[in-house]
Amino acid sequence: MGTSKSPKARVRELRELIRYHDERYYTDADPEITDPEYDALLHELLELETAHPELVTPDSPTQRVSGEPTDGFATVKHSEPMLSLDNTYSADELGEFDSRIGKLLPDEAVEYVVELKLDGVSIAVTYENGVLVRAATRGDGTTGDDVTTNIRTLRSLPLRLAGPHAGANVEVRGEVFMTRSGFASLNDARRRSEEAAFVNPRNAAAGSLKLLDPGEVRERPLRLYLYQLMDPSAFGVTRHSDALRAIAGMGLPVEPHWELVDSVEAAVAACDAWRDRRDELDYDTDGMVVKVDSLEQRERLGSTAKSPRWGIAYKFPAESASTTVTDIVVQVGRTGRLTPVAELEPVFVSGSTVSRATLHNADEIERLDVRVGDTVMIEKGGEVIPKIIKVVKSKRKGRPRRFRMPKTCPACGEPVSREEGEADTRCDNVACPAQVKRAIEHFAARGAMDIDGLGPAVIEQLVDAGLVSDYGDLYGLDPDRVVELDRMAEISTANLMAALDASRERPFDRVVFALGIRHVGSRVAQALAGRFPSVDALAAAGTEELAETEEVGPVIAESVHTFFRSGKNLDVLAKLRDAGVRFEIEAPPESPDGRTAAAKSPAGTPFAGKRVVLTGSLEGMTRQEARDAIEAAGGRVTGSVSRTTDLVVAGANPGSKLEKARELGVTIVGEKELQKLLRG
Ligand code: IVH
Repeated sequence: MGTSKSPKARVRELRELIRYHDERYYTDADPEITDPEYDALLHELLELETAHPELVTPDSPTQRVSGEPTDGFATVKHSEPMLSLDNTYSADELGEFDSRIGKLLPDEAVEYVVELKLDGVSIAVTYENGVLVRAATRGDGTTGDDVTTNIRTLRSLPLRLAGPHAGANVEVRGEVFMTRSGFASLNDARRRSEEAAFVNPRNAAAGSLKLLDPGEVRERPLRLYLYQLMDPSAFGVTRHSDALRAIAGMGLPVEPHWELVDSVEAAVAACDAWRDRRDELDYDTDGMVVKVDSLEQRERLGSTAKSPRWGIAYKFPAESASTTVTDIVVQVGRTGRLTPVAELEPVFVSGSTVSRATLHNADEIERLDVRVGDTVMIEKGGEVIPKIIKVVKSKRKGRPRRFRMPKTCPACGEPVSREEGEADTRCDNVACPAQVKRAIEHFAARGAMDIDGLGPAVIEQLVDAGLVSDYGDLYGLDPDRVVELDRMAEISTANLMAALDASRERPFDRVVFALGIRHVGSRVAQALAGRFPSVDALAAAGTEELAETEEVGPVIAESVHTFFRSGKNLDVLAKLRDAGVRFEIEAPPESPDGRTAAAKSPAGTPFAGKRVVLTGSLEGMTRQEARDAIEAAGGRVTGSVSRTTDLVVAGANPGSKLEKARELGVTIVGEKELQKLLRG
């Protein structure tokens, strides 16, 4: 553990170790230590810095979220304009690019580097004396936005350079992007909380960089790869391939699949190979980039006003396919929104078979004029659900009927409504079985009451069999009736009953989220629970009072207020209250800036004011014992990992909480570390 070292030396050592392991994890995708081990290092560093604040430096890995939310971004002038590349779309056009170069550099051999063209947002990152000082977006090419505080939150980007150029002044440029998997979970969460989903990972990355609160950016699954070293001669580099190696040598992330080739034919072959393989990657690419390798040749080739002559983008064709619409069905969501969905003749596109596409709302259908039987072009972006981009009218047979939104709800038969100026059609019947099912799904979901074994198929049966008509009925379920349902043999029933039982203990903020109040996502629920410590307080609050809560504007305030004015909702709440679901906060609300308060808590009371989450099974103690001990040491044990969580204790077979903690960069410790912390 190196405890004999001076704190200063140990702090330095820990930072080195953390940087080393960050690089193994993010740059090489080849970690050498487990996550709890990594997090133990981070935690030890945090403890030392807390005890010795004078040792905190801006490049410490603990300082990734250092900025306060801002009102806007400052403007930065780029050291050199950030140009873009010309596009080509075929092997022939790439050949023309090579011929142009041949004319400008007659009788010279030209080597090319072929790289993936990352579909993200370009960024310029500057290090001074080896320390990350600035990151700027491309903007208009001459000036961009200063997004330094946001970029600092990306764990894949070291705050300090490593290797032989560790003390360098250097600017590197590259692309910030969102992984596909990260994008999918971000959108899932947004849909669950009724926030607008992002269209594709690029939009999500661009939107995330523009967020004014770096704390929020930290929760976004952003990554970056760097591909351009400014002022390469300062590093003794004469070829782009060496520049890429030099960038990597500084500990910075470089997309690993680049290739050096000695002819345009080989470049075309490399591009074509990736066109077929790009689905293997967890990030979107919209083509390839072919660049002259020799920097001296590049110099002589020069640039036009818009783009360099030494490089070109080779764009992949958009991934689309044509198929026919076999039906248009209407789904009813949790809040009663009717969504038309096109059923499609299954077709293979971008690596998977597609058989349905969302049509969003009546306006969208009208815009596309899509009808049953039509041939349509579909396109798949980063989303799992593809879009219909157009109807091939020339292939329309006969005169199929226009689609009309139904006048009554397809699930309950009650009349539907569409407000003046609104795109959405809604079913206003709160007892509508489709809405009830979706509402129960939301209630039972992971970030909400987290009821294992209560998935859509079981919910469908429970509602259809009349065993529940809202989520309030869940706690009164009769196991003898449940066991009679399809595939609910005794064990699953017992497990479901136990999971329901355990869910009564979920923290109050998750209960608020689980209620499914329109526009109340998990973050808003946390904010509300922080300010209104019980259901009664929340129900009694006026719209103005509600709107004073952080994250809550007039629309959300109105929605919360309305929710608690519905007699039907109050009946459901009464059932939850009777069932013993947590209706108030576990402990007095902490200071709004709980995290900082915790980080500043005096040494020796490691848990004072801290929010701790337990996951997985502990060997040496029961969960209850761990909870009691942490609470006795001044901490608070909560059920879900969020931005305000200070510490996650991971036992054996940890669940999704560990993943979430990693995603949010929350400190994670193992059981041994916990024991040590408890001993003080
Ligand atoms: S090189 C002079 N390499 O595509 C511009 N660009 O128009 C040098 N991009 O603005 C850019 N992946 O945002 C380069 N491997 C890559 C890239 C890449 C993505 C983006 C970049 C640039 C645009 C090209």
